[in-house]
Amino acid sequence: MAMPTRMAMPTLAAPKVPLLNPTSLTRFVDPLPVPPIARAAGKRSHPAYPGQMLPYYRMEMRAFNARLHRDLPPTTLWGYDGLSPGPTFETVRGEPLLVEWVNALPTRHFLPIDHNLHGAEASKPAVRAVTHVHGARVPAGSDGWPEDWYVSGHSALSHYPGAQDAATLWYHDHAMGITRLNMYAGLFGAFIVRDADEQALGLPSGDFDLPLILCDRLIAKDGQLYYPVSDDPSAPWVSECRGNAVLCNGKLFPYLEVEPRRYRLRLINVANTSFFDLSLSNGRPFQQIGSDQGLLTAPLERSRIELYPAERADVIVDFSGMDGQAIQLRQQSEAILEFRVRDRGRPDTSILPATLRPVPRIDPASAVRDRMLTLGEQDDAGGNPMMMLLGGKMWSDPITENPRQNSIETWSFVNITGDSHPIHLHLVRFQVIDRRPFDLFAWNAHRVVKYTGPAQPPPLHEAGWKDTVRADPGMVTRIAMRFEGEPGRYVWHCHYLEHEDNEMMRPYQLLPA
Ligand code: C2O
Ligand code: CU
Repeated sequence: MAMPTRMAMPTLAAPKVPLLNPTSLTRFVDPLPVPPIARAAGKRSHPAYPGQMLPYYRMEMRAFNARLHRDLPPTTLWGYDGLSPGPTFETVRGEPLLVEWVNALPTRHFLPIDHNLHGAEASKPAVRAVTHVHGARVPAGSDGWPEDWYVSGHSALSHYPGAQDAATLWYHDHAMGITRLNMYAGLFGAFIVRDADEQALGLPSGDFDLPLILCDRLIAKDGQLYYPVSDDPSAPWVSECRGNAVLCNGKLFPYLEVEPRRYRLRLINVANTSFFDLSLSNGRPFQQIGSDQGLLTAPLERSRIELYPAERADVIVDFSGMDGQAIQLRQQSEAILEFRVRDRGRPDTSILPATLRPVPRIDPASAVRDRMLTLGEQDDAGGNPMMMLLGGKMWSDPITENPRQNSIETWSFVNITGDSHPIHLHLVRFQVIDRRPFDLFAWNAHRVVKYTGPAQPPPLHEAGWKDTVRADPGMVTRIAMRFEGEPGRYVWHCHYLEHEDNEMMRPYQLLPA
């Protein structure tokens, strides 16, 4: 058996600035910020039905300074409404809204652009932005097509119809060739969809329901963000970016005062490449109630929650009976957030029901076609940094994935690299059918998939509706979805942002029914 090689990686240059050792910081001195709720600025008419007035939001992307920790000098960040994470959108199924995403960023980028990447050529303006709501079912024109970026002083109006079930979605930048830098700079926030079915369950709500947005960063001693570069100044792109400090809603090692009762935490991994492996210091389990696209069928008791980039987990944490205690949230063995339990005499009226909602299984046999799509890698013409390819194709190759509206398809991701890749499709929600090991040697020799073991059904926490799936090396990961939504051009890609920016993103065309 040929061993898969690790993704070839340009050599990392030693940072030119001294980096902060985050373990030297005093822990748990800053309160956990909870992003404010986005407020509508007024009403505007519906783009398709001019008589109908919709709530209109205006969200400005700006540079600002913020303290990531009490003892650090202010850090330059970019964020929506001058915040990172940006304000949280609170939306309701069936209630459409309009958002004008305004680029008010500086004209110079403060992170290292690689002009060799497609879409980031030196001829392009350095600072470009376009916003995508991850997991939203939207018309193509409002989805944030990566090449529909615009420069400072310009904006785009997006229409979010809200025709989807309650879920924890999130918004972020998606500009071609620099998404990894714009997001590293701080351009992301939560976008919550609620609905009456979920409301009726009596889960913790109000003050007891909050997003917990996690990412890792490298921070220089002067407090500024450091983004890694290769040792070739003319080609600074690196294939992954892992930090050494975890930001919780934009703070390092914050604390949160909680009451001895149930909380609903909406965990969102907005990191460039890192995955999180979360647990509680007191050994108590989480009750996971939801994944990317909303509720699971029933709560799942889990002592650890693993999240790949762009994945979400809705969890219930029960602090009852812990008055006066301090409990830490851990990323692997490191405490990143402290919960301080203090009774305020407010009774807990929330419920954790035994069942949450039905998730009818899509029968893979009902698919009109299966698409075998490789997750691969390749040298560029100059033999310089590798690029990552989907289905052996580059971004600008003609469209090959062209499902019909309302049809069911299965897509099989054949991972021929040595790394996992979190694969995300815009517009649709899907189900993971199975993962199955295959013979990489046979693939390399004959381009055939020869399975070497039985198909493994997804674990229960991956058996709900998803929009991002981890495709493991040496495995075929199969998903099934019905292509509901408006015909048009969308994208699918690896959510490792370094890969996405370097060809691991493809367009797809949804054809009319
Ligand atoms: Cu989270 Cu194409 O996006
Ligand atoms: Cu990838």
